[in-house]
Amino acid sequence: MGKFNFAATNHFVSWGWWSCSWSGISTIMMLKTTRHRLSAGTRWPARPRKRRKVFNELLEHRLIKRVSFEEYRAKVRDVYDGPQGAVLATCSMLSGHTALGQRLFTKRKFDLHGARRILDVGSGAGQIAKNLVKHADREAELICLDLSHEMLRRARNRLKDGRPRFVVADLTRLPFPDASFDCITCGYVLEHLPDARLGLAELSRVMMPGARMLLLTTEDNFPGAITSRVWRCRTYNRRELARICEASGLRWHKELWFSRMHKVLRAGGICVELVKV
Ligand SMILES: C[S@@+](CC[C@H](N)C(=O)[O-])C[C@H]1O[C@@H](n2cnc3c(N)ncnc32)[C@H](O)[C@@H]1O
Repeated sequence: MGKFNFAATNHFVSWGWWSCSWSGISTIMMLKTTRHRLSAGTRWPARPRKRRKVFNELLEHRLIKRVSFEEYRAKVRDVYDGPQGAVLATCSMLSGHTALGQRLFTKRKFDLHGARRILDVGSGAGQIAKNLVKHADREAELICLDLSHEMLRRARNRLKDGRPRFVVADLTRLPFPDASFDCITCGYVLEHLPDARLGLAELSRVMMPGARMLLLTTEDNFPGAITSRVWRCRTYNRRELARICEASGLRWHKELWFSRMHKVLRAGGICVELVKV
């Protein structure tokens, strides 16, 4: 059974990798991808694609597949409660991830205007919640939810804002009645579930018809596999996830990209706006 490593140095190395996976490595890999695509028309040659897929699968961490969900979830909570969670905000900032996420809101790629009840799932250090406080309508009710009590304490300290309510809970068992929210943000949490259906069905349940969700998650490419190694999480295939969303009553409304460059290179992972049918 895989074990989490709590050594402080390792956390920084981990975060370095996290950063690389979304910035440096992904850029290099995607530039390569684009060059291949251009030279081979619009289609990938079948064999290298298959080989890459196998390689990425081999690279992915297996813990989530090896232990029960209860056991895995307890380990995730320990990691985020501990020193790795303590450096989450700093590392997001250093990797440029905070700024990229911010663009989704400042450029209104995901528009919070008009939302009355907003749930931020897996708030972590409050990276997304910070944007909710800044860009949501003044009268909107904000709820930050996380499995880790410590992460929510850190988020509260960082946000320094009395508006959000903080709730410790598991994404797969949300403590809210059906159709409670007209807007949800869920950043990099789904990869901590063995099966996306567990989370998406629950998110769909608490969404009002027509409610919108910003979903960000790790993709099954090389940078995603590195992220998976570092964070002992899983990755998602974009098409497969789209099918699961549709089956959960969540329409795959609009794919979002942090920037034009990310769009051209298809980098940055899965970022999508979903609408509850
Ligand atoms: C990588 S952080 C994401 C932080 C932030 N949302 C962002 O976009 O950068 C993942 C967070 O999800 C939380 N988490 C993991 N599994 C969860 C679950 N089953 N239910 C609720 N939160 C969970 C972790 O505790 C952690 O704070």
